[in-house]
Amino acid sequence: MNIPLVLKFKKYIKKALTRRKELESFSLDGVQFNVVDYSYWFGIWPSTRTIEHDEGKRFSSVIYLNSKNGHPYLPPVQAMIKAWAGWHEYHHALVLGCAGCAIPRFLFDEYESCAITGVEHSDKMIEIARKFFLHGIDGRFQLVQGDAFDYVSSYQGVGYDLIVVDLFHGKGLVMRIFTDDFMSNLKRICSDTGLVIFNLSSYLSQEELDEYKTAIKHFFPEASLMSWHYSRFIALFPGKVGHDVVGSFKKKTQAYLRK
Ligand SMILES: C[S@@+](CC[C@H](N)C(=O)[O-])C[C@H]1O[C@@H](n2cnc3c(N)ncnc32)[C@H](O)[C@@H]1O
Repeated sequence: MNIPLVLKFKKYIKKALTRRKELESFSLDGVQFNVVDYSYWFGIWPSTRTIEHDEGKRFSSVIYLNSKNGHPYLPPVQAMIKAWAGWHEYHHALVLGCAGCAIPRFLFDEYESCAITGVEHSDKMIEIARKFFLHGIDGRFQLVQGDAFDYVSSYQGVGYDLIVVDLFHGKGLVMRIFTDDFMSNLKRICSDTGLVIFNLSSYLSQEELDEYKTAIKHFFPEASLMSWHYSRFIALFPGKVGHDVVGSFKKKTQAYLRK
């Protein structure tokens, strides 16, 4: 068989072997979302469950239904989390913006002694998460209904080892994530050896990104930017880490992403 030809047509082959089952539709912030299961004839690829919009071109969450080997949602974020685990153990993690809770689920499966808190402001997303996504997640995961900005400004508990900022509304990034207020709260509630990850998706232009990078540097002197396809992610280090550690973190992240 001609392997390069098969790879070229993989997309079409996959489509032909796909079974799509819509479980629920709802609209939020003027956008139509669908909860959809994808499975493949002969079980060639693992089945997935997604919250998607724009005819499946964009995803709010994706989980595997029959594989515990990571999840298909935001591979670079998962790779960054794995890379930093080489320097620091995770005991308390916070995910801001949860939808179907793919990242909380990944953390739950991967780090057995980590307690995870998720904050989500939409009643509907929480209903969808509980109905379709949270099976098998028990006491170590707590889903808080509320506003992420209020949560970080009033939080007084133990410092988080990991914070993932994944805040989107309708079709865009929540721009308030770049305010000084939010940045200083993140820094305050993250432990010195912790890690903060922003999913910026593909919504920012290079000029906007440069402008925000300058603002971010004021609070987090060390940052690592990562591009993946059209999406961008930033890892921020609240503590004193040298350039060498940031460099090896980046290399390790890329190695995990290639696996
Ligand atoms: C891309 S989805 C998050 C996906 C999720 N991190 C996962 O792992 O599957 C973005 C979510 O952010 C939520 N959101 C937006 N603004 C918020 C806010 N101010 N407070 C809490 N949640 C918010 C949206 O309702 C949406 O469900």
